Amino acid sequence: MNMLCIRALYVVLWAFVFTSTTNEQKEQALRLMAEAPLIDGHNDLPWQLKSLFNNKLESVDLYTLNSTHTNIPKIKEGRLAGQFWAAYVPCDTQYKDAVRQTLEQIDVIHRMCHRYPEDFMLAASSQDIMDAFAQNKTASLIGVEGGHSIDSSMGTLRSMYQLGVRYLTLTHSCNTPWSDNWLVDSGSEPVQHNGLTDFGKRLIREMNRLGMLVDLSHVSEQVMRQALDTSEAPVIFSHSSAYAICPHERNVPDHVLKKVEENKGIVMVNFYNNYITCRPTANLSDVADHFEHIKKVAGSGTVGFGGDYDGVTSVPTGLGDVSKYPDLVAELLRRGWTEDEIKDALGRNLLRVFKDAEKVRDRLSKRTPDDLPIPLEQVQNPCRTDYGYPAQTSTAGMLSLSAPVVVLTLALISLFAKFM
Ligand SMILES: *[C@@H]1O[C@H](CO)[C@@H](O)[C@H](O)[C@H]1NC(C)=O
Ligand SMILES: *[C@@H]1O[C@H](CO)[C@@H](O)[C@H](O)[C@H]1NC(C)=O
Ligand SMILES: *[C@@H]1O[C@H](CO)[C@@H](O)[C@H](O)[C@H]1NC(C)=O
Ligand SMILES: [Zn+2]
Repeated sequence: MNMLCIRALYVVLWAFVFTSTTNEQKEQALRLMAEAPLIDGHNDLPWQLKSLFNNKLESVDLYTLNSTHTNIPKIKEGRLAGQFWAAYVPCDTQYKDAVRQTLEQIDVIHRMCHRYPEDFMLAASSQDIMDAFAQNKTASLIGVEGGHSIDSSMGTLRSMYQLGVRYLTLTHSCNTPWSDNWLVDSGSEPVQHNGLTDFGKRLIREMNRLGMLVDLSHVSEQVMRQALDTSEAPVIFSHSSAYAICPHERNVPDHVLKKVEENKGIVMVNFYNNYITCRPTANLSDVADHFEHIKKVAGSGTVGFGGDYDGVTSVPTGLGDVSKYPDLVAELLRRGWTEDEIKDALGRNLLRVFKDAEKVRDRLSKRTPDDLPIPLEQVQNPCRTDYGYPAQTSTAGMLSLSAPVVVLTLALISLFAKFM
């Protein structure tokens, strides 16, 4: 009887100690998140607005919307201080209406910020993020997910920058005329360019000149390496996890993690179950393992959050929506992360990368825009006209026409020569 009582007491005490330390770490997490902004690299709410409501924002209430991972009350609870909203359109728009569809996604992000001015603030610089944080609003940045969205056009890239786009993911899950994507590593698509073409490398330098971040989530391993060698500014992986923990081609291998550290870039951990455990199920602790691994291999200065909420079909137990970030922060505290390491991962790493990209932009301010179009033969498709390019078909036509003319002339000259 006594033994049982003592045992019961132990259990109660243990439960008390356990829950109180749990609460303690959650409290500490919330305090840290009030001091340093949480900036997430990738959220697909705009694509949900497209697919669920055809972008009719007036018919949606972002306070009560509950079929998505993301709504405003969840954002507040999750202390989400900065978000790169994805202006994503699927690969089957490539060579069709990708540019229009992307502009519509950029437009819906702008309209979302206008419709909820107390909650969102459009942000286009590192300073904007800090200003929004000071006002308790979610800094809303725009990232275009997939090179197909710019239709191989420097002018389109620059125009999107003007509209506030601050990163371009070089590919989504399809090759572009200038870059391979991760599917070539999984063998389900053939290698087309062996990485980046010359135009692809020029695009990266143009992004450096503009101050647009180069995002390497979704690209092939060869593109990761070449982009890291080409970029003059730090790069990002906006939503990718660690390959050593889950060997999926969307994740980042250790040797690339080390190059990202040298580059002073960042890998923002994707929460998608299939990229976390390589299985259909995962939990919060599995996600923390990816944070730990990246920290171990490349340092706490190289890691960040890139949840991919509303872009994936399954998320880990304990991280069901954007309200749960503080629980993940608490788990990292439980695993012994220092407050400085936590604040770096939350947002200071991303701010450093962004500021560095802005410095590179300022340093390159005398460089002229790259106005050399992609070679026409690399973008031949039925939905593209060739205005501006030298009229190649008519030149060829003239040549084929002029050959007999030349022969005839020569024959006439030799004929006249005989007579003279
Ligand atoms: C979600 O919202 C709908 C419509 O507002 C409501 O009927 C439903 O009960 C809500 N579900 C949850 C889980 O809150
Ligand atoms: C900021 O937002 C949090 C979470 O909603 C709230 O508790 C806090 O009072 C707000 N602070 C200010 C200064 O508005
Ligand atoms: C999370 O899942 C892993 C297996 O992936 C398991 O070992 C671990 O016990 C789980 N943790 C929790 C807190 O459920
Ligand atoms: Zn993605």
